[in-house]
Amino acid sequence: MSAGNARVCFVIPTYNEALNITSLLKRLTQIYGDADTAFLVVDDHSPDGTARLVREVADGTDGRVHLLEGKRRGLGDAYVRGITHAMDVLDADVVVQMDADFSHDPVDAERLLGRIADGADVAIGSRYVTGGSLDERWNLRRRLLSQWGNRLAKWVGGLRGVSDCTAGFKAIRTEKLREARLQDVQAKGYVFQVELLHRLIRCGARVVEEPIHFRDRERGETKLGVANMLEFLLSIFWIRLRSHLTFLKFSVTGLCGTMINLVSFYLMLRLGIHKFVASPVAIMLSIFSNFMMNNYWTFGDRIMIGRESVRGVKFLAVSLMTLLLSYSVFVALSILFPRAFPVLLQALGIAPGALLNYYLNSRWTFRGADRER
Ligand code: GDD
Ligand code: MN
Repeated sequence: MSAGNARVCFVIPTYNEALNITSLLKRLTQIYGDADTAFLVVDDHSPDGTARLVREVADGTDGRVHLLEGKRRGLGDAYVRGITHAMDVLDADVVVQMDADFSHDPVDAERLLGRIADGADVAIGSRYVTGGSLDERWNLRRRLLSQWGNRLAKWVGGLRGVSDCTAGFKAIRTEKLREARLQDVQAKGYVFQVELLHRLIRCGARVVEEPIHFRDRERGETKLGVANMLEFLLSIFWIRLRSHLTFLKFSVTGLCGTMINLVSFYLMLRLGIHKFVASPVAIMLSIFSNFMMNNYWTFGDRIMIGRESVRGVKFLAVSLMTLLLSYSVFVALSILFPRAFPVLLQALGIAPGALLNYYLNSRWTFRGADRER
């Protein structure tokens, strides 16, 4: 089974999973017999010899089982390395991320891939949608941890539409992973799941959830520790802060533009240039500085829809409208109040122009891919 004709790669991180990995790989290769399906185990030199077992299975299969070894820096780090390898070296169109301890039933991946084939970009194996469930053996502490982690991710991390934000079982189109700039993910630990989802949603990924039953591991032990929880708490706030940072940068840009407009207008008046000529020139200067700052600074990390040249044309159109609005207000006010200080009238013209400019540029010119489709 695959998602259409796509090349699928399961990415399975392991740390001390010697008791599980052989049977998991056997089960997976048995269910997904398709030549276009590969399995990549990302092991961080587990002391229990997990890697050796993976090599043994790999030798017995037709080159579909792969092993990537690295230094242990946490689950998120292992996933970034593994998924990058799956995309760039194994040429995967779709990756399935999955735990090695049978908490995720190998059979369920089939439904996730089915949803991808139907057009989803991300299919989450979800414990918290109707039909999904958690192992009854999970103790209260673990349940509360998961529930509150999810609540935080939802409300603080801005993942409102998703029920299982921390899920570790997902099928994802690699095309979207490239758009979401997987390589820029900062999370090292389990919070990786939230950061990745946040990035995917921000660039317009179509996310669906499939109910799964999450079984507690039978063998080996969990690696989720206090360091992971701390990172989770700090990162969640950082994810949110970053959007506030964008707003702050946008305001600073606007302030600079206003200064440039008024100062250049004043200087031109002092040079004896007529106010009806100085006004549009000053407005254009500020529009230009705003564009440069927004393009390279405020929205510098936004993934934009469309080509640079198209954005240039849109920007020109928006600028023209802004110019017309601000200038008309200035001219109108100058006629109504011929004795007023021109710099004041110029400042009053900025306000409606800035509003229009912000609205059109953020909705249209600098539109993030999140409004696509
Ligand atoms: N390579 C590597 N490096 N693998 C790791 C590391 C690491 O530092 N830490 C954990 N793993 C592997 C484990 O060997 C296992 O295959 C998988 O990652 C999940 O680890 P568990 O320790 O079993 O996680 P869990 O069961 O507590 O957590 C599960 O539920 C969380 C949400 O409640 C996972 O599915 C998480 O991804 C999920 O966020
Ligand atoms: Mn587990």
